[in-house]
Amino acid sequence: MILPIYVYGQPVLRKVADDITKDYPNLKEFISDMYETLEKTGGIGLAAPQVGKAIRVVIIDLHELAEDYPEYADFRKTYINSHIIEYGDEKDSSEEGCLSLPGISEKVVRPKQVHIRYMDEDFLEHDEWVDGYLARVIQHESDHLEGRVFTDIISPLRKQLIKKKLTQLLKGNITCRYKVKFKK
Ligand code: NI
Repeated sequence: MILPIYVYGQPVLRKVADDITKDYPNLKEFISDMYETLEKTGGIGLAAPQVGKAIRVVIIDLHELAEDYPEYADFRKTYINSHIIEYGDEKDSSEEGCLSLPGISEKVVRPKQVHIRYMDEDFLEHDEWVDGYLARVIQHESDHLEGRVFTDIISPLRKQLIKKKLTQLLKGNITCRYKVKFKK
């Protein structure tokens, strides 16, 4: 089932998401719906709060990036109860967008490496350092689990410049090709 994407202004995007247990109701179905939704929207990552649930579930599918990053051609992974443990020292800047902020993209500075702990779909624990473009995507999705979106961490000047666009999203003046849920 394709789920509507909750847009900027929806309170669920500002909540700190909770860890879940193995017996979370209909978890397999929910994750499968998330993949179907991500596929439909053409995005590369989706966090559960973006489809209305404040729980720590993130899916990442990087096959769209295969042209620029052949190593990601088959990359598709679910992160449950994901937490960032620490960051590397080096940083870089790259353009980001978000399904919850249609029509907005901005350069975001982030650490190049990140140390995460998470569980896979079988609830097996993983502890790993991640780098490359994946590290950026993981940080973007992890922000959603902490109640943040990428426009929170851009420069004050850039923030000022996109203020009108954000206001339009709050008002529900949204043009995009997928189903959305906005405030009101
Ligand atoms: Ni996002």
